[in-house]
Amino acid sequence: MNRRPHEAGQATRGAGHGGCLADAIRPFHVMEILARARQLEASGRSIVHLEIGEPDFPTPEAVNAAAVRFLAGGQVRYTPAAGLPELRERIAGYYAERYGVAVAPQRIFLTPGASGAFSLALAVALSPGRRVMLADPGYPCYSNFVRLYSGDPHAVPVGPEQEFHLNAASCRAHRGGDVPVAISASPSNPTGTVMRAAVLRELVEWFEAEQGILISDEIYHGLEYGGRSASALEFGEHAFVVNSFSKYFGMTGWRLGWVVVPEAYTAAVERVAQNIFISAPTISQYAALAAFSEECLAELERRRRAFEARRDFLWGELVKLGFGVPVQPSGAFYIYADCSPFTEDSAEFASSLLERAGVAVTPGKDFGAQAPERYLRFAYTADVPVLREAVERIRRFVAG
Ligand SMILES: Cc1ncc(COP(=O)(O)O)c(C=O)c1O
Repeated sequence: MNRRPHEAGQATRGAGHGGCLADAIRPFHVMEILARARQLEASGRSIVHLEIGEPDFPTPEAVNAAAVRFLAGGQVRYTPAAGLPELRERIAGYYAERYGVAVAPQRIFLTPGASGAFSLALAVALSPGRRVMLADPGYPCYSNFVRLYSGDPHAVPVGPEQEFHLNAASCRAHRGGDVPVAISASPSNPTGTVMRAAVLRELVEWFEAEQGILISDEIYHGLEYGGRSASALEFGEHAFVVNSFSKYFGMTGWRLGWVVVPEAYTAAVERVAQNIFISAPTISQYAALAAFSEECLAELERRRRAFEARRDFLWGELVKLGFGVPVQPSGAFYIYADCSPFTEDSAEFASSLLERAGVAVTPGKDFGAQAPERYLRFAYTADVPVLREAVERIRRFVAG
């Protein structure tokens, strides 16, 4: 592709001079796996994709129908920066029904995905250089968001003994400066583990007592296989709670999420939202109103059960093959498996598994620096027959 001179110049400056915040952003290794998988497919190879962190189900029919009805009206304009009032009300209703908590709709801000919610929360939570504690292993984008908002991402090693979650004790030990800040996530990406309600309660209460800032990422809520997860909102009003229509509601491409903001920050968050994205996508907001209909929730429950059956199958088979899964994965759609019985280098293992057996998985190094060479993330975003085929291929691969 021919670049115009100023574009070429920008690319060179950005890549070479280390002078902009984006220079600190790291790429995902899984993108290399995905690109190679696509290349192999293009050459005629069959590849089983267990690397992709996106539900394989289509958008629920009721949501599509609502979007079509809205489009027929022909008025696709901005919404208020905080989002459609009726959708904010509907989400508040969801908190009342699902968690038994009263949340004022004025505290709910619609955003372009949970990703947009992190922008809002970090823009008001951070001052330059402020430490943000993050579980390692964890979702890789958090540290990049923190860097973009001039904060200082601080990895807190979390292992099987903590069920791969932050807790009040680890945050006390790693707090850093005056105002402790952390992002916690349950169910977790990459481990699929769910934080116990008592641990979350203690975490929320510790941050409140220290006048710190806890951002609770609840994007995988709804995809749980051992009873519903607790929300940070059940234990206090001072955490930022992030959620999204991407995962449980199966709407990744609609780019719609939300953040529940502590009262004291609502004015600041509104100013930031007005400036950085004006409003979340309007069509998506009208469509999302239908996501809470009885019909849609019934469909999502069928999907949740399908994910649970996949989890049962894949978890059981991986353990039989000799992988270690030290903590029950009971949420999201991930299994973080210890592959040290087979290799000392999970990245090399992932790459040869793809080349020789045609199974794509994500190596641990995408999720942090805590023993990444021991782990692989398997995403069960494929049906059981496809998972069965993957297991057969892995069995032959590890048998040599
Ligand atoms: C833990 C976690 N949080 C947030 C996101 C971002 O989601 P969204 O599509 O809502 O921006 C993801 C996406 O994979 C995720 O895994």
